[in-house]
Amino acid sequence: MAASPNNAELDRTACAVADAAHAAQASATADDIVCAANIAENPYKRDFPLLANHPDLVFLDSAATAQRPKVVLDAQRRFYEEMNANALRGLYRLSVEATEAIEIARQRVARFIGAPDAHDIVLTRNASESLNIVAKAFAPTVLEPGDEVCITIMEHHSNLIPWQQACRAAGAKLVYLYPDENGVITPEEMDAKIGPKTKILSVVHVSNVLGVQNPVEELGRRVHAQGGYLVVDGAQSTPHIHVDVQKLGADFFAFSAHKLFGPFGMGVLWGRDELLNAMPPFLTGGEMIDSVTEQDATWAPVPEKFEAGTQDAAGIYATAAAIAYVESVGIDVIAARERALVRYCMEEMAKLPFITIIGSPDPDMHHGVISFNVNGIHPHDVASILDMDQVAIRAGHHCAQPLLTWLGVENLACCRASLAFYNDKKDVDALIAGLGNVWRTFNG
Ligand SMILES: Cc1ncc(COP(=O)(O)O)c(C=O)c1O
Repeated sequence: MAASPNNAELDRTACAVADAAHAAQASATADDIVCAANIAENPYKRDFPLLANHPDLVFLDSAATAQRPKVVLDAQRRFYEEMNANALRGLYRLSVEATEAIEIARQRVARFIGAPDAHDIVLTRNASESLNIVAKAFAPTVLEPGDEVCITIMEHHSNLIPWQQACRAAGAKLVYLYPDENGVITPEEMDAKIGPKTKILSVVHVSNVLGVQNPVEELGRRVHAQGGYLVVDGAQSTPHIHVDVQKLGADFFAFSAHKLFGPFGMGVLWGRDELLNAMPPFLTGGEMIDSVTEQDATWAPVPEKFEAGTQDAAGIYATAAAIAYVESVGIDVIAARERALVRYCMEEMAKLPFITIIGSPDPDMHHGVISFNVNGIHPHDVASILDMDQVAIRAGHHCAQPLLTWLGVENLACCRASLAFYNDKKDVDALIAGLGNVWRTFNG
């Protein structure tokens, strides 16, 4: 210990770096945005050790999990090397510092999503767990037989199966909003589906298959007018667009760190203070109690009430580093670059007559995600042949079977190229060349 750096000082430095990053984000200039949109240049790949170590890899699966920048890997390692102790449990210096690191991270997360109070940030394992907390702990407190829960047909299974179960348990009905041919939930569809029986509306902010951004604010206004609640799955929006939970009008907002350039095993649930306070815990055990007797227990205040067991303090610390990194690049810069990448990719795909795009033909309607099929060729074959060219895409149902069924997608599977700001024109060119190879392999 004696030779180790002063941890409190290191933490102050980390905060200063994050604050500087935050200020940088606020001051992203028009020039920064123009530079970022120049996809022929790539100043970002070098920040990501995996991409730097594999210069020939074309990684187009960031919607499944993103790559991590060195600052995130360093933060995780630094936690174990300089700060490792079980947070909350100890009164000695290291443990207190680990606890402080968690609380600092909670504040960074809160600021990143515009949450008014860091105490309403519940640190979970992933978006799935966050959504399960809402469906299993909150929903039973408001759902009654005959009520309706409304979701969209484009939900990831993580924001669908928990609602099937919640409805079954409460005797409520699960109602679906269906988009038009461009992936848009229209006002007419909202009129038809959101009514006095709608107690909860749970919606994906950005679809992991269609890439479309849903009209969350409008959906929120409508469900609130009926006295209901709005839950937002932000797993695919937080890496791509600016999020402000208050402007969205959300009552709950969930996301995962691993899609946001952070570590695996870290998720976030933000909820409105009075709702989190009123609902019971989801998991029980250590650290989430106030007092325990032989037959009973009372709960710790929010957020600890929802954080049973030992927290992944290193992961939480690294999540704060991921957010600081994203802020240092600037979410506006990220969004501009991804728009340019998606536009270029879809324009090039449009030149391939054997490609069918799933979702809107308008590139601006795709936030980093382009789903498609190569006519007559199974998506698994497409992905395997692309892999031979070191092009990594996803093929399958993307945890959205009801959507693919409703769309009538053959084999209940499609290909998905998902782009992040660390991609560039060369990556897109490799995908397009690879798709040509796929077609020639099967069609001579
Ligand atoms: C839209 C959406 N929601 C939820 C999830 C679940 O995220 P996780 O597996 O990190 O819990 C995903 C993961 O792909 C997703 O794309």
